[in-house]
Amino acid sequence: MTPADLPADLTTLLGEGAHGYFAGGAGDEITLRDNETSWSRYALHPRVLVDVGERDLSVDLLGRRRAHPVVVAPMAYQKHAHPSGELGSAAAARATGSVYGLSTQSTTPPREVAAELGDHDRWFQLYVFRDRQISLDLVAEARENGYEALVLTVDFPVAGWRERDKRSGFTVEHPIALNPDGPALTTEELFALHDPTLTWDDVAQFAEAAGMPLLLKGILRPDDAERAVQLGAAGIVVSNHGGRQLDTALSGADALPPVVDAVAGRADVLVDGGIRRGWDVAKALALGADAVMIGRPVLWGLARDGAAGAEAVLRQVVAELDTTLALLGCPRARDLDPTYVGRAPWA
Ligand code: FNR
Ligand code: LAC
Repeated sequence: MTPADLPADLTTLLGEGAHGYFAGGAGDEITLRDNETSWSRYALHPRVLVDVGERDLSVDLLGRRRAHPVVVAPMAYQKHAHPSGELGSAAAARATGSVYGLSTQSTTPPREVAAELGDHDRWFQLYVFRDRQISLDLVAEARENGYEALVLTVDFPVAGWRERDKRSGFTVEHPIALNPDGPALTTEELFALHDPTLTWDDVAQFAEAAGMPLLLKGILRPDDAERAVQLGAAGIVVSNHGGRQLDTALSGADALPPVVDAVAGRADVLVDGGIRRGWDVAKALALGADAVMIGRPVLWGLARDGAAGAEAVLRQVVAELDTTLALLGCPRARDLDPTYVGRAPWA
């Protein structure tokens, strides 16, 4: 079984509402589909007769060595995927040495996820709500519970045009910070509580409140990347939000090289969207990313088999990266560079 096989019967497993929410994208889902195919528009250029007897997958992120470059993307409402919810995906991250990203819209409070993770690396993703106090309280809880970085998501002033959710009327039944004891709300109702007036001027306030390194997630343009660096961001996540926001927005894979050039080593660069295989991870690093985020495959593993399912998915991607490094003749992930990748002749 490969991660690509996993979604097969998930509609039955999750019900149409939750499945549509997790799997779906915006509009005609052109970007959603392109995210996966964008990585196959790059071809790998393997080097031969290199001693690859020992491989080193580790990378440096926010000034610390990490076991490998796979970060679990922050994803909302995980109890709708499996009763273990965020505790399940967090356990999988810990078991596989993957940095864990917790969503603002989690169905498990940051302190409970922190207790599951122990001393394992975790980042807190922030949405700024119209009621900014809710966001500030969450930042305080994250700081008190050992979250190492704040990932401010900047591509969600309003929700994307999501037709699967409009059709299903999917409602979030579990308590969340935004709606601790209220009635179940549709995702459209919940997303209307995001603050659409957030600008660059507000970013510094949240960075200061956090007292931890700041990453901006959802950047696709080099000029925005430059601005983030000017503001002191420690990292940038090149992302179109898994194709869920602006349909026909370009892929992370295509946006990455110009952003890497603009950042010029002044901040860490991560990329996400459609990364499914270890060789996709290798391409991202060869194009200049320091690490990647992986989203839906973790949810599919979680839905299928809780923590064990999510762990199996992450383990496989990391094992595929190990095989890829050997076959590329580049035994250290940190040594991947643009000579290992080029535009695919078939693209
Ligand atoms: C997300 N994503 C997301 N991002 C974020 O910053 N905060 C969030 O709460 C969520 N929630 C969320 C829910 C679901 C169901 C999905 C699929 C995605 C986006 C996520 O962090 C990441 O950018 C993409 O999922 C990466 O693309 P792939 O790997 O899913 O293709
Ligand atoms: C989503 C949010 C919550 O993409 O990030 O559904």
